[in-house]
Amino acid sequence: GDSEGMTVNTVTPDARKRSEVNIDWASLGFSYIRTDYRFLAHWKEGAWAAGTLTEDNMLHIAEGSTALHYGQQCFEGLKAYRCQDGSVNLFRPDQNAARMQASCRRLLMPEVPSEMFIEACRQVVQANEHFIPPYGTGGSLYLRPFLIGVGDNIGVRPAPEFIFSVFCVPVGPYFKGGLTPMNFITTQFDRAAPHGTGAAKVGGNYAASLLPHEEAAHTRGRTFADAIYLDPATHTKIEEVGAANFFAITKDGKKFITPKSPSILPSITKYSLLHLAEKRLGLQVEEGDVYIDQLDGYSEAGACGTAAVITPIGGIQHGEHFHQFGVEGQPGPLTRRLYDELVGIQYGDKDAPEGWIV
Ligand code: COI
Repeated sequence: GDSEGMTVNTVTPDARKRSEVNIDWASLGFSYIRTDYRFLAHWKEGAWAAGTLTEDNMLHIAEGSTALHYGQQCFEGLKAYRCQDGSVNLFRPDQNAARMQASCRRLLMPEVPSEMFIEACRQVVQANEHFIPPYGTGGSLYLRPFLIGVGDNIGVRPAPEFIFSVFCVPVGPYFKGGLTPMNFITTQFDRAAPHGTGAAKVGGNYAASLLPHEEAAHTRGRTFADAIYLDPATHTKIEEVGAANFFAITKDGKKFITPKSPSILPSITKYSLLHLAEKRLGLQVEEGDVYIDQLDGYSEAGACGTAAVITPIGGIQHGEHFHQFGVEGQPGPLTRRLYDELVGIQYGDKDAPEGWIV
């Protein structure tokens, strides 16, 4: 890593802008709200320049930027949580830094050193502290780090320059209703190819999900929150749930299972749940296959991710068949316990495994 890149030209705290915040915390959804400061750093000629906090929420970039034409960009999502004692927790930011580095390697972009990534997140949270939803409201401050290829260019090749930025938005639940089960429907489309970019957190995967999401949301008969993606090679196994990962609990209540595939986005929440299911709930855990025509073997299922947290899956429509998990309208008991463990750790109410909280 380039240690110069760690420097942050912080606006001195007393000179900082601090807008009047007039938010009804309890009714927050997942929508853009402009906050006061974002972090910005440029990469040029092989090195990261010192980053800075800025009030400007607009980017002025070259028309030939590779991010605009060829999708050379990646992003992350993590949250800051207000604890009961007033302190603020970041959940596993080192994991987001590492995942962004993996996305960079896949798209030939310069890696952001972990110290720079975490320091940028810390600065953005501190400068926008008044936007962190209060403890007990269920809200959090969503951080959106991103990296884009910029500079004059026309051929398909890596950009000559890059911009790394982190902005933040106070958010509530991604899927309305929090721990209320939602229904999902399988799609014929794929979000990623078998040896494509599914495991990288790159914008193209999400652009590819817009149409399946639109179709899912407008299917008549039931209300579907999002599309379920099957494995792109055979379309027989569940891979992902919209912009979230998938898990299920076997009918005997003994095993937590989540799909294993090279085209799945490696969810930090999912890996955290694998740990908690095993160590705190005493479940067997497995990364394996969940066949779409064998859902009868599972009594609970859920979508998990930073934005989705844990969203229980009420049922899955696949072709003509609708599979209902558990009691309609109620989250399963193990799903609820996993949720309580995860969220308890994030808000500082429960002991965190070593290194999970910054
Ligand atoms: C996240 O959970 O942070 C995501 O990336 C999901 C989405 C809002 C893109």
